[in-house]
Parts: sequence; C-alpha cells; structure tokens
Amino acid sequence: MDAFEIAEQVKSRAGFTPEVGIVLGSGLQGLSEEVEVVQRISYDSLPDFPKSTVEGHKGEYIFGYIDKVPVVLMNGRVHYYEGYPMSAVVTPVKVMALLGAKTIILTNASGSLNRDFRPGTLMCISDHISMFVPSPLIGPNDDRLGTRFPEMSQVYKRDLRALLHETAEEEEIKLVDGVYIQVTGPSFESPAESRMLATLGADAVGMSTVCEAMVLNYMGVNVLGISCITDMAIDNEDLQVTHEEVQKVAAEAGKDMVRLIRKTVVKINK
Ligand code: HPA
Repeated sequence: MDAFEIAEQVKSRAGFTPEVGIVLGSGLQGLSEEVEVVQRISYDSLPDFPKSTVEGHKGEYIFGYIDKVPVVLMNGRVHYYEGYPMSAVVTPVKVMALLGAKTIILTNASGSLNRDFRPGTLMCISDHISMFVPSPLIGPNDDRLGTRFPEMSQVYKRDLRALLHETAEEEEIKLVDGVYIQVTGPSFESPAESRMLATLGADAVGMSTVCEAMVLNYMGVNVLGISCITDMAIDNEDLQVTHEEVQKVAAEAGKDMVRLIRKTVVKINK
C-alpha cells in the first residue's frame, strides 16, 4: 500500500480531519496526556507500515483535540538506523499530511554542538543540514505529492517560528534558535565527529526530523521544529551519553515543551 491508500484507511477508521499534526520525539510523550482523545490507531494495525523497534518509542497515531483544535499526534516515529529505507521512514508523516494536517510540528531530542546550549534547553529549529543521510525524495517522483526539485529556502516557516518565540516569551520559557543536523546513528558521535559537525554550522545533532521536514516541505506543509537538547555532544571527551539519560532530560525539559506546544497550537489555529 502506498501512503495515499494508508491515509484512506486511517481516515475511514479515525473519521477525523486534523488541522495540526505533531510528532513526539524521545522522552516527549507527555503531550499525549494533554489531548482529549477521540481515537487511537496503532502502527501495528496498519498494512505496510514501519514499526518502531526502539525502547521508549511507542507506535500509534492519536486523534483528538488540544484546546478544541483538531490534532493528530504521532506517538513514536521510526528511524533510519532501524533498517528501513528513508522512503519508509517518512511514510507516517506523509500520511499525516494526506489526512489534511496543514501544519506539522516535529519534535526531537538532540545533542548540543553549541557550548551555549546546555542540556534542558529548547531550540527552535531555524534550518537544517541533511547531507549526512539519504534524501527521502530519492526514487521516482510522485507528482501528486510534489515537484521533482523542491526548493528549500524556508522549510521551518518564519511566521510559525515567530509565533513559537512569542509564546515562549509569554510563558517565560527559554527558547533559542539553531541549526539541526541529522546523522544516521545509532551510535552517538565521537569527539572528532562532534567538532566536525559544529564546524559545518550545526548547533544540535540528532537521528531524525530532517528527513520528515524535507518530505513535508515538498508536500507544501508548514513545518515547525523544536529540539530538546539533552546532552553535550561537543566537548564530550569525558562524557558518556546514554539513551536513558537522553530520555530522562527530555522528559524533564519536555514539560516546558508540552506547555509551549499547547499554547502555540491554539495560536496556529486562529
Ligand atoms: N547525538 C545524536 N543524537 C542524539 C543525541 C546526541 O548526542 N542526543 C539525543 N539524540
């Protein structure tokens, strides 16, 4: 089944048209508790759908309302390092776009490449570097979704970023702007790799999001990206980061992220 057929199936089961889609990254599942749930659809129940194999990543769509705004959440995503081709990794976000979500908020946990961005900091993704992972757009182009050579000048929409910053100020949540770089993982970076990525202009490194943002930009969806910095990837000669630590820091800082997203979603829908 292609993304269109999967979306048709999801649509008939959910009976719901979301306005905003939100992808919940590692440790950031708290937002799912803020949703007035209408329907849950597990990835397992969908044909030809990639399943998350990572601990701490669930696999379900949650349909419902956040302060009366119809939303769909991706509670869990799949990653390239799990062994799926990049075209399959982006199927779940493609389906959200095909369900009608005009704005999609991507969240993740990341390692800092910027000495001023300490663990616990929330970063609004201003731009990205994709060159260390294969493009999700490689292969025959589906003209129903987008053009062969999509432009990329403003993947993370300026007006959405301004809205996020405005909300962060109102809520007294510290929010920085930065460039996110996607690598394949699953290993974390060596000190020399972190220095290289910082030299290339990235502020944070992670194993997701950019491929999703690329395919959504191609489909004409408005993208907003928020990264929760969970560890120092730079200067990590004497630091041994673990998946558990990433999840713990994300769960803590994620409380601010939940509030930030909740208030921003209402503004997006105005
Ligand atoms: N590196 C890559 N991905 C990550 C990190 C990191 O330090 N932290 C959370 N995701």
